[in-house]
Amino acid sequence: MSILHSKIKTKSGNKLLIERELSFGGQGRVYLAHKIKTSKAVVVKIFNNKFNRKILLERIEFLISIQEKNSFEGIELPFDLIETKDLIGHCTAYIDSISLEDYLMNSTSSITERLETALSIAKQFKHLHGLGIAHGDIRAQNFLIQTEKRNLNVHCIDIDNFNHASAPEPNMVGEALYLSPEQRDKLSNDTYYPPTIETDLYQLGILFHEIVLLLHPAHGNDNTQEELENAMSGVWKLDPTVSKETKNISISILNNQLCNLFRLALVQCPKKRTTTDNWIKAFQNAIERIYHCPKCNTPTIVDSSKIFCPQGHLFELLSLANAKTNKKLCLNGKSFFIGRAQFNDDIRISNKQLLISRIGPELWVEHIGTNPTKYKQNGVWLDLPKYKKIKLCKNDFIKIMKHELKII
Ligand SMILES: Nc1ncnc2c1ncn2[C@@H]1O[C@H](COP(=O)(O)OP(=O)(O)O)[C@@H](O)[C@H]1O
Ligand SMILES: [Mg+2]
Ligand SMILES: [Zn+2]
Repeated sequence: MSILHSKIKTKSGNKLLIERELSFGGQGRVYLAHKIKTSKAVVVKIFNNKFNRKILLERIEFLISIQEKNSFEGIELPFDLIETKDLIGHCTAYIDSISLEDYLMNSTSSITERLETALSIAKQFKHLHGLGIAHGDIRAQNFLIQTEKRNLNVHCIDIDNFNHASAPEPNMVGEALYLSPEQRDKLSNDTYYPPTIETDLYQLGILFHEIVLLLHPAHGNDNTQEELENAMSGVWKLDPTVSKETKNISISILNNQLCNLFRLALVQCPKKRTTTDNWIKAFQNAIERIYHCPKCNTPTIVDSSKIFCPQGHLFELLSLANAKTNKKLCLNGKSFFIGRAQFNDDIRISNKQLLISRIGPELWVEHIGTNPTKYKQNGVWLDLPKYKKIKLCKNDFIKIMKHELKII
């Protein structure tokens, strides 16, 4: 029975007019509708009759109760139940948006925007998992992207295959390209492996790989079904420390921290997988560490180990020199202390006055000594705050007492 253009009354008394079909999937049909009273657009999902009504009802009611008590920005949960003699379904707020899949395929998104998208999703899943809910169907089609002026909002939808200890178990598996090794293993024996927080963590690893690198982790290792299965059996095939021959530019934009997390996210052992907390920290850090090569403009996420851009251009490495004599200070290592020894053993200066760290092409300074220190940026002298990392630029100056250093 088609419900197109018909009127439906929800459990809480909303009257809806069904306008058009949005999709027809494994679980049922999804429609765009609007509330007759307010004209507000909503999405109606009507489940396939093959599902057990009582179980479905309990599961939808569970989601509605989470929506009412534990909502979180961007997690789209149903707010109303549809239950008639013939139909069972739910109703969710409509998001005017494009799917994350289309966004990744068609847009000229920047790495910053994509890291911000990944960060929003990691926060949403920290919340869901904190409530004990596994999503159960993570894939790029189940996220929507809304670009409002310069803001980018991410919405997580289709939580209908969720798993939670106090609701009846779901019965679907997610999309083949996102299944974890344990889910693949059971599927190949025709048995069912319900979603867990750990299977979600595996699926998030795949999704974040697609978002950050615009590549599925099995990319290049998917010529046959066997090759694909192998690529998804618990190893990260594109790991730059393992597959040296894949000089894939997009992989080389990663810093060591993100490489470690991808390696762990895609492991076989469910308990070892990257947590949402670790993803959040790594994405926040990466967003602050994006560097565009001045020679080719290719972005890369820098850390102390990076000295080349993804195209192979050596970064210009900044140094410190005595401003009077122009004598360069010897800056060995990724971080080093500057103090009395560098200033003619002037006993009025602390042994460890400044901590200098190199992060890719950038030089950062942290004031850790006792002597007041100033720095000159864009021609203005400022106090160097204590215990705060400040980024240094070429031609900046640092002054401790009468001693001046120049960034060259
Ligand atoms: N809240 C929403 N706002 C806008 N579009 C939605 C919303 N929910 C679903 N859709 C659209 O309908 C499609 C199917 O919905 P979804 O809940 O993912 O069901 P399915 O189980 O069929 O995948 C989505 O891919 C999306 O295009
Ligand atoms: Mg879906
Ligand atoms: Zn370059």
